[in-house]
This record gives sequence, C-alpha cells and structure tokens, in this order.
Amino acid sequence: HIRQVLGRDGDLAGRKIVVSAGGTQEPVDPVRVITNRSSGKMGYALAAEAAAQGARVTLISGPVNLPTPQGVERLNVETAVQMHTAALELAPQAALFIGCAAVADYRAANAAEHKLKKTDDQDTLTLTLVKNPDIIADVAALPDGQRPFVVGFAAETQDIERYAQDKLARKGLDMIVANDVSQQGLGFGSDDNAALLLWRTSDGSDRLVAPPQPKTQLAALIVRHALTHLSLTSSGA
Ligand code: C5P
Repeated sequence: HIRQVLGRDGDLAGRKIVVSAGGTQEPVDPVRVITNRSSGKMGYALAAEAAAQGARVTLISGPVNLPTPQGVERLNVETAVQMHTAALELAPQAALFIGCAAVADYRAANAAEHKLKKTDDQDTLTLTLVKNPDIIADVAALPDGQRPFVVGFAAETQDIERYAQDKLARKGLDMIVANDVSQQGLGFGSDDNAALLLWRTSDGSDRLVAPPQPKTQLAALIVRHALTHLSLTSSGA
C-alpha cells in the first residue's frame, strides 16, 4: 500500500495498463474442465508492479488462488472466449497490454449439458476440440489509435529464442518475454523465474537476458523495459 501511495506520481502515473494472468478453464461438462498449471504469480506480480508505479491497472484473471494486488481492478473470467471479450473491450483504452495468461489453445467443441457418464462397454472417450481465438494477436491487430504497446509471453521447453522470435513476429507483438518452463524451480507455479526479453527495433530485434530471480523483481524489469519502449514508440494512452 505504501509503495502504491509513493508511486502515485511515478513513471506510469495515470497510464492505463491491462494485464491478463492465470490459466483459462475450458468446460467439458458441468463438473469437468481442461486447464493448465499456470499459478498466475507472474501476471499478478506485473499488475502489482505497474500499480505501484502509479498506473491504473485492470487484471483480467483466470481462476487462481491469489489475492488481488493493492490498487488493482480485477476482472474474473474462466474461459479463453470470456478473456478474449474482456481483453478486446479494455485494450483500446490502454497504453500497455501484457498478455501473461496461459490461454488454452483449444476448447471442447460441444461442452456436455449434463455430467458425462462412464460406461462399462467403452474403454476410450473421444473429445473433439476446436481452436480458441488468439487473444494477444487480436489485441496486436487493433487499428492505430486503439492499439496499445503489446507484450506477450512464451513458455517453451526447447529452442527458446527461435520460438519466441517466431511468436513475436507471427502475433505482431512489440515485445516478448520467453522462459524455459522445463527448468526445475523456475516458471510454472514457482516464485522465481528467468527470462529472455526480445523486442522489435526499427532494424530487427534486440534482446536482454534476465537471470533467475523472484517473479516480483522480474516484473519490475519487464515493466521498466516495456515503459522505455512504449515511450520511444508513442505518447501512450
Ligand atoms: O502461442 P502461445 O500460447 O505459446 O503464446 C503465448 C502468448 O500468447 C502469451 O502471451 C499468451 O497470453 C498469448 N495467447 C493468447 N491467446 C491464445 C494463446 C496464447 O493471447 N489463444
């Protein structure tokens, strides 16, 4: 709370920032969902850091077990489609959009209205999945004047830099934070993270290696970098 009061006139004073965090839950039937291991800790740390620097932060959150950071407005969603609707409604008013959520790439084509029953004669069950919208790509495709500076995340288990570069270009992002989720004690669920920051420049891209550190500290680094590049590219909302 003290940090937020001290940060009222900070570098992000008055700026609107939208952060997505946590994993989405895609219903299969009324009692079952498809989800992932995202804890939401990185996204919540980013929202807390931006608020502490004076930003007006909206956190679009999947179901997680974390308290809302001081001074942050939180919008709870469950599915990728709900997160997509919320993001596209809020992003046009924001100077910065940070897509930290672990969005399910697919959802059940037809969630069952009643609980699926197991039967004695069936040893397998086939679910048909359909692709979810790519939230961050759609935010990045907003027209000039409505488009915030867009920072994405890439959780990888191999060839981190190549996959992250590809995502930066393919999704039309301004900056991407890539991390190796196969490393013990880092990334998913843990309090620490290491990352590679990549951002676009006029003649290609640039990079910064962030060594293992608490997610709260990494959040400050990411916000600081996003702010530097955001100030270079526009006056922001
Ligand atoms: O493609 P991949 O899931 O690895 O990309 C990760 C980045 O894209 C994250 O910033 C995540 O929040 C975003 N994403 C999204 N909508 C999806 C899938 C991923 O916004 N359907």
